[in-house]
Order: sequence, then C-alpha cells, then structure tokens
Amino acid sequence: MFATVNGISLAYSDTREGHPVVLLVHGFPFNRAMWDPQFGSLRARARVIAPDLRGFGASEAGPPGPLTMEQHADDLAALLDAIGVTEPVVFCGLSMGGYVGFQFWRRHRHCVRAFVFADTRAAADSAEARAGRLAMAERVESSGSVHAAVETMLPRLFAPGLRLDSPVPRQVEAMMASTSPRAIADGQRGMAQRSDSRELLPGITVPTLVIVGEQDVISPGVPREMEAMAAAMPRAVFVQVPNAGHVSNLENPDWFNQALLAFLDSLSVQRDRRR
Ligand code: MLT
Repeated sequence: MFATVNGISLAYSDTREGHPVVLLVHGFPFNRAMWDPQFGSLRARARVIAPDLRGFGASEAGPPGPLTMEQHADDLAALLDAIGVTEPVVFCGLSMGGYVGFQFWRRHRHCVRAFVFADTRAAADSAEARAGRLAMAERVESSGSVHAAVETMLPRLFAPGLRLDSPVPRQVEAMMASTSPRAIADGQRGMAQRSDSRELLPGITVPTLVIVGEQDVISPGVPREMEAMAAAMPRAVFVQVPNAGHVSNLENPDWFNQALLAFLDSLSVQRDRRR
C-alpha cells in the first residue's frame, strides 16, 4: 500500500483491523521486510502497521539531503493521519527506528500509547562514530555502490558465532544490498546529525519495553547502555533476548515475539485497571 505524505509516496503494510495499533519502524539500512516475523505473529493481537521510511524499501526519497530523524518522525505522524489512525500507537523501533522514536516523542507525543525500543540508544554519536558515518557516505557515493556499507556493517549485526552464510544473515544482506546508495549516504548523514535524547528519558511516562539482543555488538556495551536507559525511564521494563545480536527480532523471533505479546497484554491489563 502507498500513501502520499509530506510530498512523497510512502510504502507501508497495514493489517487494518485490531487494537492496539502497533507501528513497526525498521532499522538502517533495512526496510519493513525486517518485521515479517513480527507482522505475522502480532496480527491476531493488534492492528499492525509497518512503513518503509523515506528513501528505503519502496518509499520515495524526496529531495536530496540528510534523511533526518525529525523528517522520518513527521512522515510517520502524517502517515497515521493519512490512513485515519486516531488512537495513540505502540511505537516499536529497532536501532534507527528507535532514534526516530525519540524524535516522534519530541514532536508527536500525543500519538504515543507505549514504546518498544529495540537494540537502540538514546545518546548521540561520538565524534569518531560521526566521522565514520560521513566517511561511509562518501565511499558509497563515490563508488555508486552499497558494497562498502554492507561489508562494514554485516559482520557486526549478529551474535558472534552466527555464520554469515546462514539464512538470517543472508536475508539481511539481501535487504541491505537492495537499498540505494543514496539512501545509505543520506541515511548515514541523517543519523550523524541526530540529537542526544538522554535528557528525554525521565519524561517518557508511557509504558515502555526496552529489548536488546544479549550479544548485540553493534557498538561497545549496547546491552548495558540499554539497561541504563530503561532505568532512567519511569515505566520501562528491560529484557534481553538470548542467542541474538543487533537484529534480535530476526535472530530469535520466537523469543522477541513472546516479549512483545506479553508487553501488549500488560497494556490491556493497565487499561482495564483504569476503568
Ligand atoms: C541500525 O540498525 O539501524 C543501525 O545500526 C543504526 C546505526 O547505524 O546507528
């Protein structure tokens, strides 16, 4: 399905029926296909909407320039509006999807019923990480190929020990390779300029699930950093996914889905108690 939002055509999947509404926001440089195991499992329990962010998957990129977290957040709010979703949503973002979540909270918090932050961080990049992103953007642009990005990122995405020629890494590699050089370059520039969101954490007052692959090694100490992030949020629970790295939802989908479903159940219990 497609909706025209903020001057571009945005692709999305939508089960159209059910409650609550869960918005699944993909990481970088992926697309909504990364949520296939969740889409199938959640649809009996919720309305599930999974967009391709601007520039990724089947969505248009819009004018050239950094793909900012602010723009993605505004696109998501406009998408919900365009398809008539009026109730606040359970915003579930993995990695870059989580960065977008913080901007969504800054700009559209009335649209948020609850959060799921998966394998992500609230902090901005270090100067070194920022420089690495800009260098990768240049490499991809000057070569006109996404090869450099795939080669750099792929080995850090999974639990150490998972062979890169096994099915999940191959699926992720194909998804990355299908992303355009422009989306990779502008996506890196957009993430490089994202703001630090740690000051938001104590004010995120909606129920929140913070979930991370026990062996997420995308950057040093991610599981501990996410544990601290959860501790700074008044209503967050922290869980670790065993046998999983950065793409925990794909590496251990059964465990990830169970945690997500239990979290959705806890939301209805809270709602019933308030009646
Ligand atoms: C992601 O999975 O979205 C990326 O690892 C985010 C990043 O590069 O910081």
